[in-house]
Amino acid sequence: MSAQVVDIALSVNGEEVRESVEARKTLVDFLREDLGLTGSHVGCEHGVCGACTVRVDGVVVRGCLMLAAQCDGARVETIEGVADSGEIADLQDAFQRRNALQCGYCTPGMLLTAQELLQGGGVPGRETIRAHLSGNYCRCTGYQAIVDAVEAVAQARNA
Ligand code: FES
Ligand code: FES
Repeated sequence: MSAQVVDIALSVNGEEVRESVEARKTLVDFLREDLGLTGSHVGCEHGVCGACTVRVDGVVVRGCLMLAAQCDGARVETIEGVADSGEIADLQDAFQRRNALQCGYCTPGMLLTAQELLQGGGVPGRETIRAHLSGNYCRCTGYQAIVDAVEAVAQARNA
């Protein structure tokens, strides 16, 4: 039996995209396989680890829990677009300076999720930062350096 295919039109990192996709294809697989945007990673594929984090219409979502077909008409932003725009340059810099990444597998999702928190304004406490990032798993860093980096950026943005 051939897979059902649907036509979708959406914006990805500011570019208009029109594609035919398998109805069952996840958003993260679509971004990686069809558009070559491999900054969003695939870990658990069950909505647990946060490796696949992207933004849809400004909201942080799990790319493995959404279908590409659900994004017809949506505005999708991946780590590539958000990094290229300079929006998270300070976070990227802080992660690098404070050794908040090792293998880097979790890093795109961490950065997007941290930015979501910081966009709320103010300087969140360390417990709030931890809680906000708790849906993003990191098997390398022990999280301390990640919290340090996010806290430092929050302080700098509010100085
Ligand atoms: S791959 Fe989507 S949450 Fe783990
Ligand atoms: S840096 Fe390796 S999983 Fe986070």
